[in-house]
Amino acid sequence: MTGTEAQALLVGEDLQRVYRMGESEVRALRGVTFSIALGESVAIMGPSGSGKSTLLHLLGLLDRPSAGRYLFAGVDTARLDDDHSAALRNRAIGFVFQNFNLVSGETALDNVAAPLVYAGVKRKERTERAREALDRVGLSDRMHHDPSQLSGGQRQRVAIARALVTRPPLLLADEPTGNLDSTSSAEIFSLLAQLHSEGLTLVTITHDPRIAARAERVLRVEDGRIVSDENSAAYAQAGALA
Ligand SMILES: Nc1ncnc2c1ncn2[C@@H]1O[C@H](COP(=O)(O)OP(=O)(O)O)[C@@H](O)[C@H]1O
Ligand SMILES: [Mg+2]
Repeated sequence: MTGTEAQALLVGEDLQRVYRMGESEVRALRGVTFSIALGESVAIMGPSGSGKSTLLHLLGLLDRPSAGRYLFAGVDTARLDDDHSAALRNRAIGFVFQNFNLVSGETALDNVAAPLVYAGVKRKERTERAREALDRVGLSDRMHHDPSQLSGGQRQRVAIARALVTRPPLLLADEPTGNLDSTSSAEIFSLLAQLHSEGLTLVTITHDPRIAARAERVLRVEDGRIVSDENSAAYAQAGALA
């Protein structure tokens, strides 16, 4: 076994996911195998409907495979009941989505502190940690704003602060810049790159090849399968030659 394998954070073995709807079924993942190391930065690319979000949901313990094995930090997740799975998810995984998923009518600070309520952290410490997280994403001066008073880029930074407030080792992002202009997108990706350089493991679905080129590794998904798995330098070069 190599050192990399010893430190694998996420391991998928022949993962399949079939959605059944009445008589018909959709085979969203058709046997996906990978290993992602602690501290790695991985971009997932591929056409719409290819299974990227399904894969991210499995990685994030939001869903379970129909077949295959998924190991999280060496633990076979099939052995976790729903409560243990949720507890692991809350402790170890932050999520960022395209639509920010912030609660309006609550300040940025309250949005960011929310996961700590579920984690049972006391109010004073919740506020301190939410302030720290907002500071980390460069929004100390917007703590008491409602999300509706913030730009798209700022909203996504609040969402990233919320994802990080529980100090998870892993951040999963599903098209985090899908609703942002190119300037805000660049800001979000600089922020994610910064967090990765501080040790965060990052898995990001994106359509933007410039963004993928900043990840260490690119997984390409087509029709429910991983069709390539390359380091991004090779990816950028292949793109330039194409
Ligand atoms: N909850 C669901 N029920 C039924 N089919 C689904 C569900 N979620 C996704 N699908 C189908 O699975 C396939 C993969 O979807 P998805 O993982 O969302 O792809 P992507 O994120 O790459 O666009 C698509 O054909 C989609 O319609
Ligand atoms: Mg998707």
